[in-house]
Amino acid sequence: MYLGIDIGTSAVKAVLVGEDEQLFAEAEVPLTVSRPHPLWAEQNPQDWWRAVETALGGLRLAAPGAFAAVRSLGLSGQMHGAVLLDAAGELLRPAILWNDGRAHAECAELARRLPGLGQVAGVPAMPGFTAPKLLWLAENEPETFRKVAMVLLPKDYVRFRLTGEAVTDMSDAAGTLWLDEAHRDWSDEILAATGLTRAQVPRLVEGTAVSGALRAEAAEALGLPPGLPVAGGAGDAAAGGIGIGAVEDGDAFLSLGTSGQYFVTTDSFRPFPDAYVHAFSHALPGRWFQMAALLNGASALAWTARILGADDIAALLARTEAAFSGRPARPLFLPYLTGERTPHNDPHARGVFFGLSPDVTQEEMVQAVLEGVAFSFAEAQECLARAGTHAASVAAIGGGSRSHFWMRLMASALERPVVLYSGGAKGPAFGAARLARIATTGEGPAAVCRTPPVADIIEPDRNLAEAYRPTFARFKRLYRALRGVFQ
Ligand code: XUL
Repeated sequence: MYLGIDIGTSAVKAVLVGEDEQLFAEAEVPLTVSRPHPLWAEQNPQDWWRAVETALGGLRLAAPGAFAAVRSLGLSGQMHGAVLLDAAGELLRPAILWNDGRAHAECAELARRLPGLGQVAGVPAMPGFTAPKLLWLAENEPETFRKVAMVLLPKDYVRFRLTGEAVTDMSDAAGTLWLDEAHRDWSDEILAATGLTRAQVPRLVEGTAVSGALRAEAAEALGLPPGLPVAGGAGDAAAGGIGIGAVEDGDAFLSLGTSGQYFVTTDSFRPFPDAYVHAFSHALPGRWFQMAALLNGASALAWTARILGADDIAALLARTEAAFSGRPARPLFLPYLTGERTPHNDPHARGVFFGLSPDVTQEEMVQAVLEGVAFSFAEAQECLARAGTHAASVAAIGGGSRSHFWMRLMASALERPVVLYSGGAKGPAFGAARLARIATTGEGPAAVCRTPPVADIIEPDRNLAEAYRPTFARFKRLYRALRGVFQ
């Protein structure tokens, strides 16, 4: 029995997975994001720990026998966050998250200090990454910066509480911008450019290695055996890939959770910083990936439902589908509610409804939102194509992939079949459980990271795909026309 825990942005998710990969129990505990200033996004790491305690309590209650048989634990989590600890291991301030845009000036400064950064770190500096946040801290909260003894990523703070050790895995370290991706080691030069040394960043392990053992205090709080091995795990993007077996060169999937990713595994480090494609280390040794990272995924639909006062998103989608005429919605929606990374690197971009007329209905606006997100994946696909990566079909995971209707629009916007796997919506937590298994059983990654059974293949609708082409072109023009107006 293996335990996978994903420290997401909107929830902590935990799964209990058996030897035959059967899901014995799952638990989800919601989290909130605090936005105390424009562009800021923060969470209190203590909330993650409390949510882990609650989620594991839920698993224990749901499947006591299975919970007692856990052999190891794996972690996955939202990437890029900065969790700052002092020399006593205490939190210095709330964590600054992946979708926080405050450090934009610091990115320009980093690019000036390190012109070749993108070729080493796999991507140019962008505000959500960890490194520019530390430059921001040095400039704006110097007292706190001076006390920083350790910078951890979100899931690694949970690991620190579990094992007492400061460790991260390659795929999450990748998102800091401090990792020399080709060599899978910290870059002293990039660390120095942000005023840090190796002593202030965690020890590196591969995602498939054991990172430490559960200490007695945490074991007691969680009802798990002391000494339980904790695997390296992965950032949520790579963990999603492990969960659906995207481990060989060319394996592609899109993840539609709070954020969105278009992810393709590569067997070598292939940076292409020009299109803001992220070339990062995968959670398996000797594997990397190229990824287009979208800051606004299913969160755009959740926002729409909230402002429409629609508590039941499934019902809202059903109404939208019932009203769907088979044609693109007349309004366009730019989904950049929290700015955008690929392809714009623009923390100031914001959501836009464009082309409203008196007869536009709620349903048509919801359709425009679904299409806006689908078009940003289509634009991501173009960026990956510029980076030399072409996927003939693409798997889909994450909460948004549960909507067959949305995936129909997605397949037509991408002009690719979208493949759905059974159980795929649970992605990263399941991937973390797989990494726990590899870390402790000696089974090879290929044996464990199998592709789940295909549940459905959604082909593009030819007429819709054709109708989308000019709409997609307008979508791209609209952002470019507005770029100077957002600030
Ligand atoms: C990836 C990214 C998101 C976060 C939150 O670059 O920013 O996937 O990890 O899910």
